[in-house]
Amino acid sequence: MVRGSDMRVAVIGAGVSGLSTAQSIYEQYHSIVSPLTIEVYADCFTPLTTSDGAAGFWQPYLYDKGNVQETKWCKETFDYLLSFLSSPDSIKMGIFLQSGYNLCSEPAPDPSFKDSVLGFRRLTKRELALFPAYCYGWFNTALMVEGKSYLPWLMDWLQKRGVTFYQRKIESFKVLAESGADVIINCTGVRSGDLQPDPDLTPGRGQILKVDAPWLKHWILTHNFTLLHIITESKYTSRSVVVGGCFQLGNWSEQNNSEDHKEIWEGACQLEPSLKHARIVEDWSGLRPVRSKVRLERETMQSGPTTFEVIHNYGHGGFGLTIHRGCAQEAARLLGEILELKGWEPRSRL
Ligand SMILES: Cc1cc2nc3c(=O)[nH]c(=O)nc-3n(C[C@H](O)[C@H](O)[C@H](O)COP(=O)(O)OP(=O)(O)OC[C@H]3O[C@@H](n4cnc5c(N)ncnc54)[C@H](O)[C@@H]3O)c2cc1C
Ligand SMILES: *[C@@H]1O[C@H](CO)[C@@H](O)[C@H](O)[C@H]1NC(C)=O
Ligand SMILES: *[C@@H]1O[C@H](CO)[C@@H](O)[C@H](O)[C@H]1NC(C)=O
Ligand SMILES: *[C@@H]1O[C@H](CO)[C@@H](O)[C@H](O)[C@H]1NC(C)=O
Ligand SMILES: *[C@@H]1O[C@H](CO)[C@@H](O)[C@H](O)[C@H]1NC(C)=O
Repeated sequence: MVRGSDMRVAVIGAGVSGLSTAQSIYEQYHSIVSPLTIEVYADCFTPLTTSDGAAGFWQPYLYDKGNVQETKWCKETFDYLLSFLSSPDSIKMGIFLQSGYNLCSEPAPDPSFKDSVLGFRRLTKRELALFPAYCYGWFNTALMVEGKSYLPWLMDWLQKRGVTFYQRKIESFKVLAESGADVIINCTGVRSGDLQPDPDLTPGRGQILKVDAPWLKHWILTHNFTLLHIITESKYTSRSVVVGGCFQLGNWSEQNNSEDHKEIWEGACQLEPSLKHARIVEDWSGLRPVRSKVRLERETMQSGPTTFEVIHNYGHGGFGLTIHRGCAQEAARLLGEILELKGWEPRSRL
């Protein structure tokens, strides 16, 4: 045990980013920093976060626009989730394989994620004949990681290892720093320009419908101005299919909108006519934390005489579940840099 090496890490946010970052920090440091105290602060916990409402479909945007770092984090997440498939835990975690179609209305270059997913290939003529409005696309097997199972699993995992949870809105970083946190991890998703304004962060409002359609077995995504998608939930726990959605930049409303509802429903029934026979179960609206790129970096901050370190991990847009593990591992690596800077001695060196 190293004298003076106790370390208090406060994570703000209990969506997929906050919880998985707490997990990566525990995994990377609990055996070398002792005592290591990890606390999670959030005003909303599962099942009330954005991460719970998302379908949990693994797929980044089609093109990374040169941001190969994010493509790498997404792939790391895919490989990590894939490694659980042979474990009985995968059921509790809400992880399973699911195949489906990406549809385009004109030929397009291969997406950046083609080497991350399984069995990526172009659609055949016969497959395209199933979707008369589209003339191009790909088929592949991807993963689902359903927040409404994965978040409770993560909470349980952390709780068993002594991580503590506090239901509280954090009004400023100062409060946590002054109460003795050495490092603060900012995983607050779309909200809290209150903490420090970020003009690059905007809400991308989405609305989805859940419908009872257990006969659908594949996901379908269209890429033509509107992002229409049909995503099947786990057949193990649910008969539902998630139908979405809109992408309204700058709209902060989490209210369900009847016009959006109508537009989504009509679009989905055109794409998959069998849906006309399905019962609509519920509506949900959420805000994607949209940013030109994920903010994942460390910053030294000052509050009066107190200096403290912040690690930012937010701005995951419409692919927060898709990228979470890669980002969590990177955030934990940044904590290692802080430990080194502060001269925290790893226990194993003594
Ligand atoms: C309709 C829709 C569908 C989506 N579908 C998918 C999908 O299929 N696949 C996919 O990968 N992604 C999807 N997404 C995107 C995904 O939901 C987000 O990228 C992801 O949930 C972001 O996770 P997060 O942990 O960063 O934020 P959140 O899940 O929003 O969590 C933020 C946390 O921070 C807390 N918090 C914020 N401010 C404060 C404060 N001041 N004090 C205390 N606590 C605070 C909140 O209470 C919460 O616990 C979808 C999004 C929407 C809206
Ligand atoms: C693509 O969008 C355009 C413009 O909204 C629309 O006219 C066209 O029908 C759409 N194509 C398909 C295949 O949905
Ligand atoms: C923390 O993240 C939020 C976005 O969720 C952002 O608005 C804010 O600027 C960040 N805080 C700091 C201190 O940078
Ligand atoms: C934002 O969305 C809400 C709910 O759908 C809607 O009523 C409102 O008109 C939208 N506002 C803007 C500026 O688009
Ligand atoms: C949206 O509709 C669902 C029911 O389908 C409801 O549970 C939810 O509270 C609604 N959201 C808002 C903000 O009204």
